[in-house]
Parts: sequence; structure tokens; C-alpha cells
Amino acid sequence: MKTPLFIGVDSSTTATKALIVDASGSILAMGRSVYGFETPQPLWSEQSPDLWWDATVQAVREAMDRAGASAGDVGGIGLTGQMHGLVVLDAADRVLRPAILWNDQRTQAECDEIRAVVGLERLLATTGNDALTGFTAPKLAWVRNHEPDVFERIAHVLLPKDYVRLRLTGLHAMDKAGGSGTILFDVAARDWSRDVLEALGFPSSWFPDTFEGTEVTGTLTEAAADELGLAKGTPVFGGGGDQAANGVGVGAVRAGTVAMSVGTSGVVFAAVDRPVIEPEGRLHAFCHAVPGMWHLMGVMLSAAGSYEWFRTTVAPDRSFAELDAEASDVRPGANGLLYLPYLSGERTPYPDPLARGVFAGLTVRHERAHLARAVLEGVAFGLRDSLELVAGAVGIDEVRISGGGASSPVWLQIIADVIDHPIQVVGTPESAAHGAALLAATGDGAFASIEEATTSSIELGRRYVPGADAQPYQEAYGVYRSLYPTLRSTFPALADLDR
Ligand code: XUL
Repeated sequence: MKTPLFIGVDSSTTATKALIVDASGSILAMGRSVYGFETPQPLWSEQSPDLWWDATVQAVREAMDRAGASAGDVGGIGLTGQMHGLVVLDAADRVLRPAILWNDQRTQAECDEIRAVVGLERLLATTGNDALTGFTAPKLAWVRNHEPDVFERIAHVLLPKDYVRLRLTGLHAMDKAGGSGTILFDVAARDWSRDVLEALGFPSSWFPDTFEGTEVTGTLTEAAADELGLAKGTPVFGGGGDQAANGVGVGAVRAGTVAMSVGTSGVVFAAVDRPVIEPEGRLHAFCHAVPGMWHLMGVMLSAAGSYEWFRTTVAPDRSFAELDAEASDVRPGANGLLYLPYLSGERTPYPDPLARGVFAGLTVRHERAHLARAVLEGVAFGLRDSLELVAGAVGIDEVRISGGGASSPVWLQIIADVIDHPIQVVGTPESAAHGAALLAATGDGAFASIEEATTSSIELGRRYVPGADAQPYQEAYGVYRSLYPTLRSTFPALADLDR
């Protein structure tokens, strides 16, 4: 008998990726459809949910064509996507306003309001997290404070991936990893916290049932199946928020393995078998997409996003590989030039929406190559900030790295030197989409466990070990650490100048 194929769909911030695996978890084909997001005001970041649906249709069709697969071959779909985004729908499932995304920073006042109403201690103990601008709950409070006419019409609250799920299945449902990223969850109980919802005045009827990553949340409707070229009734599995699905896609599914991802955001993610809550809320404590597991995570907002900004702004005629080559000719420490990567504010280790990017130490001797090197090093220092916090809470055996930034050998060596720990590159592309496909395959019974799915299907690439440059970085890291506390008080004034 023919074994089934599984599709992982990742609705990310800049593109939807569809990836097809066979029943052994090996990748057969991928499809991709890109889109942008809007920043209509300083600190805002929004996207129309229609973009995700149109891109899902295109990406799935492309992947199916490339795999030479037909509708009947597909045993299930696993979903993943950008976390924390707020999608609000009326009772007829009409989108009420553009989605407010994870990298939106407008909600500082609402975070203060939530902390005051719920109490920081209760918030941390229940949800595992402090109220940060990126999360969903403050966005919903912002809609109540600023768009009461929209707020009044809300009947359903979803996350980006779960809006795609609604279009696929006609059902309101959410995975537990994504649900915990709203900070409206009782993280230990792995479901909505009635207590927090009540305190914040959000009706529990707005929030959908939540599911583990390997559970079926619904099946394809006839209309969705027609649009996608798939079969009606194909099961759609829970999947997970992109960081949790990425954790599956790189094999961070048991305690001790850390997933470091260098995408637009930079993430240090550790799987844990109980909720581990950082007492000051500097790390996020969320449910893993692996049933019965949790994860602890530090997030920097502009990792590869910093390098992307730098190339587009300073060297639009150069490829990343050319910039890497320039940067590799510069000594570690970039001749006394340091870069703070807070281009979109920051979360870990400084939850500060007004934090700004900085080049510190410029002299007339610095050239573009030094700036490029400083950006690569500054992002590595930011990753180290998160790794140190994670290492303070849980043991670390292995660090696995993925994401766009992990295709740069120069950057990978800098990261290994800066964190002073070996890093193992994951060779499988699009690990979040791969993780979502593996969750579906496991849910359908192709594997006995997620651990089995990851052990048999993830390809590992090169391993980078700290070298002679690790030593000079330890001193530079000390100076880097001193910069934010020194400059912090200037950021609100700089934001005022930006109005
Ligand atoms: C995680 C987070 C980002 C987005 C990016 O907390 O906000 O990694 O999920 O898609």
C-alpha cells in the first residue's frame, strides 16, 4: 500500500511556505509565496489575513506540483506560523481590522494596564510570562482602548496560523503552543486561564478550543479542498507556533537540546518537561508543540533582520555573501566598533519597545566592512544574552542552529566564538514547516513519537566549534553589556524626536 504524504504550512511574517514530506519525514518538495507587512505608524506592524490565505493556496499548489503528488496522496496537514498576532473576527467570521503582528510595539500602556489589573506575580505564576508588547493580550486591550467600535463587534479571536486553519476547516481552533503565546493561558494547565480572562474582561466565548500539536483539529472543507487541489476531509493537525514547530524541525524535543534560530528574529529555545518560569519574566515560558512538554525561550527582535536592514540601507548592490566576505577580513571586535541590534525595540534581555539600534565607537578608520562585522557580532552578542539566561535556568547539552542567518559560515563561526559553545547546523531547510509536517505525520501514526520522527528525518550539517577568536569576544561582550544600561535613558527622547 502507498504510504501517505504530509504537508507542513508555515504562515510567516514575510512568506507562506508549504513543505511536503513522505511517511519517513524526508522532504520531497516545497512551495513559497511572499508578501509584505505594513507599518502605517511608528511602532505599528500589520498585515491583512487575506494575504495568508492566498499565499497558502499558491504555496500548497506549487509544492504539490513539484512533488508530482495528487490529492489522494495527502494524509494530513500540519500548521505553523508567526506567533502572537491578533486576528479579530465578527460573528460571521469577517475580519474586523488588519492583524496586529508579533513585532508591533504600540501597546506599552496596555502592558502596564495588564500588569496593574492582574498583578505581575499572578501573571507570571499563571501565564509564565510578563505582559510584553509583542504578545496578543495587550493588542486586544489596545483595540478596546482605541477602537471600541471594533471591540464591540468581536466574536472570535485567532492567531495568524489559526485564521488559515479556519479557512481550511471552517472551524475555530488553536494549538496549545500558540495559545500560550497570547499570555491568556494557564501555562501549566495548557489551556485558557479563566482567571486571567475574567480579570481582563475578555469573554471566554471569543477563544477557541485548543489542541496538542499532533491532534486533529478539523478536516478540509469542500471549498478549501477545491481551492488547494486537495481532497475534502483531509485532516488538519494542531501543529504549533513557529518557534515550537521549529523546535520540532531541528530536534529540540527533549530537555538539554537548545534550538537557536537566526531569522528576522533571533531565538534561543530550550525544551523542558515542566513549565520553567524565569522569575523576572525575561524569558518566555510557553507550551511546546510536543504533547506534555513546555519550552523556555529568549527572543531578540532584529537578528537576520539587522543584517537585512544593513544590506538594504548601506550596501543594496552587494549580496549577503559579498558582505560576509568583506566582514571576514575584519578582526574580531571590528576595531572597537559595537552594534546594538535593537532596530525594532527589544524583548530579551531588555523588554523595551523604545530601545533603538546603535553603532558605538565609530571612527574615521571604520569602513563598511567594519560596520558589517559589527552587525554580525552584535546579533551574536544578543543571542548570547538569551543563551546565558536560558543556561541559568536549564542544563544545555547541545545547541542546534537554523534560519536564514545559519547559511553564513562567517556568521556561524562568530556565533560559536561569541557564545563560546559548539553549534550544530541543521541542514533541513524551513525547519518550522518541516516540524509542522512531522507533527501531522506523527499524529497520523507514521511515527510512534515526535522524538522518533525527528531522529529519523532531520539532516545535520556542519558543526562549528569556538576557536582562537573566542577569547577577544569575552572582553567585547562585557563592553556590549554595558551599553544598553548607559543609553537606555536616551531612547524615550529619541522616540519623541521621531514623532
Ligand atoms: C516568538 C516571536 C517570533 C515570531 C516570528 O515569540 O514573536 O519568533 O513568532 O514569526
